[in-house]
Amino acid sequence: MDSLTTRIKLNNGTSIPMFGYGTYKIKDSNEAYESVKLALKNGYRHIDTAAFYENEKYVANAIKDFMSETGTKREDIFVTSKVWKTELGYEKTLKAFEKTMDEMQMDYLDLYLVHWPASYAFDDDWKNTNRETWKAMTEICKSGRVKAIGVSNFLTHHLDTIIDMEVKPAVDQIEVNPGFLQKETVDYCHEKGIVVEAWSPLGRGKSLAHPLLEELADKYGKTVAQIILRWEVQHNIVPLPKSVNESRIIENSQVFDFELSDDDLSSIDEIPPYGNSGHSPDQP
Ligand SMILES: NC(=O)c1ccc[n+]([C@@H]2O[C@H](COP(=O)([O-])OP(=O)(O)OC[C@H]3O[C@@H](n4cnc5c(N)ncnc54)[C@H](OP(=O)(O)O)[C@@H]3O)[C@@H](O)[C@H]2O)c1
Repeated sequence: MDSLTTRIKLNNGTSIPMFGYGTYKIKDSNEAYESVKLALKNGYRHIDTAAFYENEKYVANAIKDFMSETGTKREDIFVTSKVWKTELGYEKTLKAFEKTMDEMQMDYLDLYLVHWPASYAFDDDWKNTNRETWKAMTEICKSGRVKAIGVSNFLTHHLDTIIDMEVKPAVDQIEVNPGFLQKETVDYCHEKGIVVEAWSPLGRGKSLAHPLLEELADKYGKTVAQIILRWEVQHNIVPLPKSVNESRIIENSQVFDFELSDDDLSSIDEIPPYGNSGHSPDQP
């Protein structure tokens, strides 16, 4: 049976736990530290942060303290951070990475992502900006200080700007929640062997109130959050739910003991958009 520690292969030969824990909006140092510790204590082994979240240091401290308190090995925990959209381009990306490593004080990261693409909508030289950023990402990966590199919020036209380069992105982290499957990007990634991660997998809570999902929760004897997260898992998408509340951290992780039928999966696919953020990667 799959679990929080089950890994799937990335296209560069490394692997990633198929379920993660998100840390966006946990800015308070103590809360970030304590909630990452709670997630690790409850079996999560994949932690997602970013320079933009201003919590890299506290997230990393929680991981290091958990390892020393429990004897958990570094290779058993998967750690991601990201370069923010103000730092795109070759030199700025290299510099941003050093800042992240200074904050986190770890020997290596498992995954480093370009947080948002450059787009035609706000950068006349957007294709070149994405390629220059990706050159820096490739160099960082070759240094061995990150095990894999990827992107976030890249739609197919953004992916096309770098897909012919020497190293392919291993991951694309995009918004996915019921009503917002982003099928075109998901299909493109899966065809090219790029693992898709879901940010705001619960629509920041907005996705939780839906009559169909409530019906399915009753049918399967699970909560609506568990139905949504299971729907993402069955689409081979890695969800990264965030919660600072231990009972929800546990609830969100209990999605490996049931399976949605094909009909129920399809009926969730067909829900019209309702819980998504409205942020487009083509907006400044
Ligand atoms: N790459 C990107 O551009 C990007 C953008 C956004 C997010 N992310 C990543 O994706 C992660 C997840 O996304 P997110 O934080 O935006 O949203 P989310 O995980 O969809 O939702 C988090 C919200 O839902 C609540 N919640 C969590 N579990 C719940 C449950 N079982 N029942 C009821 N409410 C629940 C949380 O409240 P409590 O904490 O109070 O429980 C929080 O308010 C982020 O933390 C971040 O790591 C990436």
